[in-house]
Amino acid sequence: MTEVAVVEGDGIGHEVVPIAREILAALRPDLEFFDVEVGYGRWERTGSACDEETIADLKSADAILFGAITTPPDPGYRSVLLQIRRALDLYANVRPIRGEGVDIVIVRENTEGLYSGIEWTEPDRACTVRVVSRRGSERIARYACNLAKSRRHLTIGNKANVLKSDCLFVDICTREAARAGVPCTARFIDALSLDILMHPERYDVVVTTNIFGDILSDTAAYLVGGLGMLPSANIGERHALFEPVHGSAPDIAGQDTANPIAAIRSAAMLLAHIGDPESAAVIEAAVDRVLDAGIRTRDLGGNAGTREFGAAVLREVLRGKA
Ligand code: NAD
Ligand code: IPM
Ligand code: MN
Repeated sequence: MTEVAVVEGDGIGHEVVPIAREILAALRPDLEFFDVEVGYGRWERTGSACDEETIADLKSADAILFGAITTPPDPGYRSVLLQIRRALDLYANVRPIRGEGVDIVIVRENTEGLYSGIEWTEPDRACTVRVVSRRGSERIARYACNLAKSRRHLTIGNKANVLKSDCLFVDICTREAARAGVPCTARFIDALSLDILMHPERYDVVVTTNIFGDILSDTAAYLVGGLGMLPSANIGERHALFEPVHGSAPDIAGQDTANPIAAIRSAAMLLAHIGDPESAAVIEAAVDRVLDAGIRTRDLGGNAGTREFGAAVLREVLRGKA
């Protein structure tokens, strides 16, 4: 039996995750779902956004379908999502960006870098330590090279001209690429951010450190219609969590206007991960057919509501499955 933990989270997580879940259930009636409450809503109600028991529940699942969570306005607060990624050691954040003339996968180191959580505030300054470890870099480099082996090449997004920590990162990625026989180029992240928008066809697998991968993925969303389109997988040795790249979008929450594609595609990535690439392909094809039919949410220039769009994808999924 395959158990899937479902975290809707906050904001539009409550709108897009149920759609993704319904599509998963339609394709795979054998999946067992259980809900886990995490996030701002829970923090408001109980004073805790996530605790040890929650982490244990998430760890007990074969895979996690995740929405998005809002950051509470609490200065002492540490991002729950970062806590979960760390606790489950989800070291590879895989963010495919596919669209017309675009086929890029950002592989973001997901447990250290500037998000290591080593920070303190003094009266006149605040400090955050950026940790790039050999072990952390080796495992993300191997993950990216493994992926690039079956594709074209690897780009190492970095700022080694300024950051000593990135000299180590580039070194390790270059060595792993040579070992794997993967052609690779190191590019500075600022220039890379522009070039990926101007010449997306130049890019294939891009490996980078935590915060650069965070920013680069939102930027690259521009190439394929925005944040509503991008799914992601957070992969570790023992656990895996699938979530849209976007956040809880409080500005549009509760309006039935959010684009559910990112969440639906995250569900497809979940299926591929649990060994069902056929069902994942059924979902991808269904999304494409709905878009081809001109049905779109507001962010893509259409007027379909979240639920209406989700129902259209579900119909196509059932047709594709039959
Ligand atoms: P956001 O991704 O939530 O929204 C950015 C912009 O994109 C907004 O204008 C929003 O309306 C739009 N957008 C996002 N997803 C969309 C969708 N599916 N369809 C249509 N439009 C969409 O980022 P933000 O506004 O910077 O952050 C809002 C909250 O989300 C913050 O509390 C932040 O900490 C949190 N956040 C959480 C996650 C996560 O849990 N994975 C990721 C990013 C941000
Ligand atoms: C993302 C988000 C998270 C991140 C935040 C909410 C901690 O922006 O998943 O891209 O920075 O990783
Ligand atoms: Mn982000």
